[in-house]
Amino acid sequence: MEKTLLITGGAGFIGSHLVRLLVKKYPQYRLVNLDALTYAGNLENLRDIEYLPNYIFVKADITDATLLSELFEAYNFDGVIHLAAESHVDRSISSPTDFVMTNIVGTVNLLNAARQSWKNNPDGKRFYHVSTDEVYGSLGETGFFTETTPYDPRSPYSASKAASDHLVRAYWHTYHLPVVLSNCSNNYGPFQFPEKLIPLAIHNIQNSKPVPVYGDGQYTRDWLWVEDHALAIDLIFHKGRLGQTYNIGGNNEWKNIDLIHLLCRIMDKKLHRPEGTSAKLITFVKDRPGHDRRYAIDATKIRTQLGWQPSLQFEEGLEKTVDWYLANQDWLTHVTSGEYRQYYEKMYG
Ligand code: NAD
Ligand code: TYD
Repeated sequence: MEKTLLITGGAGFIGSHLVRLLVKKYPQYRLVNLDALTYAGNLENLRDIEYLPNYIFVKADITDATLLSELFEAYNFDGVIHLAAESHVDRSISSPTDFVMTNIVGTVNLLNAARQSWKNNPDGKRFYHVSTDEVYGSLGETGFFTETTPYDPRSPYSASKAASDHLVRAYWHTYHLPVVLSNCSNNYGPFQFPEKLIPLAIHNIQNSKPVPVYGDGQYTRDWLWVEDHALAIDLIFHKGRLGQTYNIGGNNEWKNIDLIHLLCRIMDKKLHRPEGTSAKLITFVKDRPGHDRRYAIDATKIRTQLGWQPSLQFEEGLEKTVDWYLANQDWLTHVTSGEYRQYYEKMYG
């Protein structure tokens, strides 16, 4: 094998798309997917590639520093792509400490393990930290987040991701650990856990349950097709400049309520229900505390320096997403019933 890479959080939503892309594209790389399989980790996301000879799964928690050192010792990783995180804002409001433990302590554990392992031979090594645009805080009606926008995180989730970003940069400046970072906007697509807006709405509409819209529904997010994020990560990992940060976004802003109306129209069509049926399920509910009003990414740097741009129009991507969820009822049923949590025991136990 030419290289051994550690991917953390590869059983989650974005991580599973990245693992699938990399194991197929780089048969000469050995890919070790480390994931604690929290409620958000689902090995069924990787069923189609788990048999590949260059793929290894390790169930482990990044808060366990000793285990990470042993793993670096055993595999001698050439690179790390770090996605493992607690990722849901609403959960961060009810359980902030879990976010501090995984997102901050877990990240510093990984940084320490990489530093220790690479200290005598840093050439060609790379620690890639995957982060979010939420670290920049909330925008007004106009403007965009650039790579130099000051950090202003406002939820326990974004504060914990901001802290982890700062630590990664501190290891670059202080210890010359070879790092690269990216901050991406909201992702959507197959395999997203149905606690996030789009899969939750698809699931509820299909089951004729209320679709909860927080507050006045005028909150704006910039949505990106998840496979485009995976392609950007591949590009940045291989071509990004060390010590640099790249913003990734869809140039695709939607107010939540407009997005939900579009989704309702697609669902009516796909489920052969009379037009307007799904929209009747829209229910305005109590707002999220500290809800960020608007996120929007300026992705000029990655476009001009690395030649990346989003591939899909949102309407097309949303329709593909709906098609995937409707065609993968088993996946959704296993997730909503909790059955997916037995997959590890069945496969690896
Ligand atoms: P996810 O919640 O779907 O997946 C997270 C994965 O990390 C899960 O498989 C989970 O089991 C694993 N994990 C959690 N705690 C762990 C621990 N202590 N040790 C080991 N593994 C652990 O998240 P996602 O949406 O795929 O996001 C992946 C990364 O991308 C995160 O770092 C997130 O901050 C970032 N990000 C997400 C979005 C988005 O829209 N989803 C946008 C920008 C950036
Ligand atoms: P979410 O998917 O949780 O992502 P994030 O909070 O990281 O942006 O939420 C996207 C937007 O949708 C956000 O403005 C909150 C809102 N939202 C709802 O209105 N209803 C819901 O049930 C959920 C989960 C989110």
